[in-house]
Amino acid sequence: MTAKKGRAAKDAGDQPARAAVLGWPVSHSLSPRLHGYWLRELGINGTYRAIAVEPEKFTDKLRALAAEGYKGFNVTVPHKEAALMAADEVDAEARRIGAVNTIVIGRDGRLRGSNTDGYGFIENLRANPAGLDAAAIIAGGPAVVLGAGGAARSVVAALDGAGAPEIRLVNRTAAKARALADDIHREKGAAISILSWPERETALIGASLLVNTTVLGMTGRPALEIDLDNLPPGALVTDIVYTPLITPLLAAAAERGNPVVDGLGMLIHQARPGFNAWFGAWPEITPGLREDILAAC
Ligand code: ATR
Repeated sequence: MTAKKGRAAKDAGDQPARAAVLGWPVSHSLSPRLHGYWLRELGINGTYRAIAVEPEKFTDKLRALAAEGYKGFNVTVPHKEAALMAADEVDAEARRIGAVNTIVIGRDGRLRGSNTDGYGFIENLRANPAGLDAAAIIAGGPAVVLGAGGAARSVVAALDGAGAPEIRLVNRTAAKARALADDIHREKGAAISILSWPERETALIGASLLVNTTVLGMTGRPALEIDLDNLPPGALVTDIVYTPLITPLLAAAAERGNPVVDGLGMLIHQARPGFNAWFGAWPEITPGLREDILAAC
């Protein structure tokens, strides 16, 4: 990964290029820290701030900020669906997921929405520390996805796009899994099957990938109770939870010899396309950055 130094705000004289994350609440967002780190590292004349926007004011506020000359925005909870409606253009992936997390304002003033969560998920797997061929793992067998919330939508769409032959969607609430599968399903894509929460261990038989997208295992949340005995030894295990960085799921998988990928990288990778669009450089992912973000978690 290479980063081009120093280009920013070149069309705005010496005005800094501005971007922001919009959420409600937004103080918990790690995006300002992440983008701020990259701006400093790259010596870019830019700013990235968190702006709290009440849900009922979202569209008006988005338009007002765009008119102020912002380059674009990240959008976080609870505005991702509203952003899909408010943008002038939305790419196919975001439309399929039903949520926008990145908005780029073009020179023509149009707001272009995309969703980079799936990209972040796949790039994080590709950067796995064991140097495994993530594309081959994804294409090589069934993927088990635990959970059917917003994060699961991005993960399922990304796995489908990356050639997963079969996705086993396991969720406590069957209706949510069904709605997700209906929204994401493509005629020529992965076969998506829906399993109940008590079936999560049988779902592991023959799987090549296991992904936790639920909040279970996160600090302060209930544990994710799952016995990995049925999981093949070569299956890759990842968790989108990154507090703690090594979740009990990842620890249990590593203990039995499965390759594991922590969830912090997904957060970092999903931010890169926006940074590049707003500030004109592809930022690097370094151990220093990971440490800086973890210190704030
Ligand atoms: P996000 O948008 O971040 O994915 P979410 O929409 O709240 O968050 O989804 C959280 C996921 O964790 C859901 O799949 C949820 O299951 P339900 O669809 O049944 O609500 C899952 N989850 C939360 N608590 C759970 C629990 N105690 N047992 C099993 N699944 C749980």
